[in-house]
Amino acid sequence: MTPILTARGLTVQYPGSATPALDAVDIDVLPGESVAIMGASGSGKTTLLHTLAGILRPTAGTVTLAAASGPVAVHALDDAGRARLRREELGFVFQQGLLLDELTALENVAVARMLAGVPRHQAEGEAAQWLAHLGLQGMEHRRLGQLSGGQAQRVAIARAQVTGARLIFADEPTGALDSTTGAEVLDLLLAAVAQGRTLVVVTHDPGVAARADRVVTLRDGRVVADERRAARAGGSGGGEAVHRVATVRGGQVEHTTVAAPYDEARR
Ligand SMILES: Nc1ncnc2c1ncn2[C@@H]1O[C@H](COP(=O)(O)OP(=O)(O)OP(=O)(O)O)[C@@H](O)[C@H]1O
Ligand SMILES: [Mg+2]
Repeated sequence: MTPILTARGLTVQYPGSATPALDAVDIDVLPGESVAIMGASGSGKTTLLHTLAGILRPTAGTVTLAAASGPVAVHALDDAGRARLRREELGFVFQQGLLLDELTALENVAVARMLAGVPRHQAEGEAAQWLAHLGLQGMEHRRLGQLSGGQAQRVAIARAQVTGARLIFADEPTGALDSTTGAEVLDLLLAAVAQGRTLVVVTHDPGVAARADRVVTLRDGRVVADERRAARAGGSGGGEAVHRVATVRGGQVEHTTVAAPYDEARR
């Protein structure tokens, strides 16, 4: 299978730091898989995610994205090129900060489509559909500050998907949530994977890692382990975990309905 994302020799040396934050990392991400990136604080997880996602330019090495239009050398793009790539091809769910507090839930999602030139009316229609699919019907016109942490993460997940992005990056998406709410947010991210999207998620949460297809562990900026679930679970446990992505607990949402607005043909 052709990887959706390929990194070779990825190295990041922050100015003034004696050792590299990322040290010649090679990684291939396959389409449709969920990859958890783990490791101690300071091991380079966020640096790796930001470099893979074109937020940060590596000091050395390459990142190649298999975009719909063909391969893109992400590391070689200038700031504007990387901003455009992030807007058009990628989705992001971070612990906090990417959504705008002064906008409503609906506006936060719709703006992602309006940036792509979609007229406001249509963008808001698509946004409303995604918010409803993620269990936020009736909350569209609340400002972010009027939502709980878990609800705000649902808005972020809607925003990450409304553009049709095939690749979603998440950094500690459950980090600020209690375990039940965190599990619900994870359900929604894995439902997106079940619908064919690819997820790269940085996490300290063993619950997230247990349910990802693959766990990549960093230490001092290097990959020290890269395990797939079949190998970790030894068979039956893995099957159960795959099955669980089909349900969203405690909400009206079922993953079968999450797929509806996502249309590969639209791209
Ligand atoms: N902007 C920066 N300038 C200088 N050093 C940085 C910068 N950002 C991160 N670092 C350093 O790079 C290393 C890796 O940081 P990174 O944020 O990638 O770690 P992390 O694994 O995400 O940690 P955490 O789990 O605490 O979020 C750390 O030693 C950190 O201090
Ligand atoms: Mg981090």
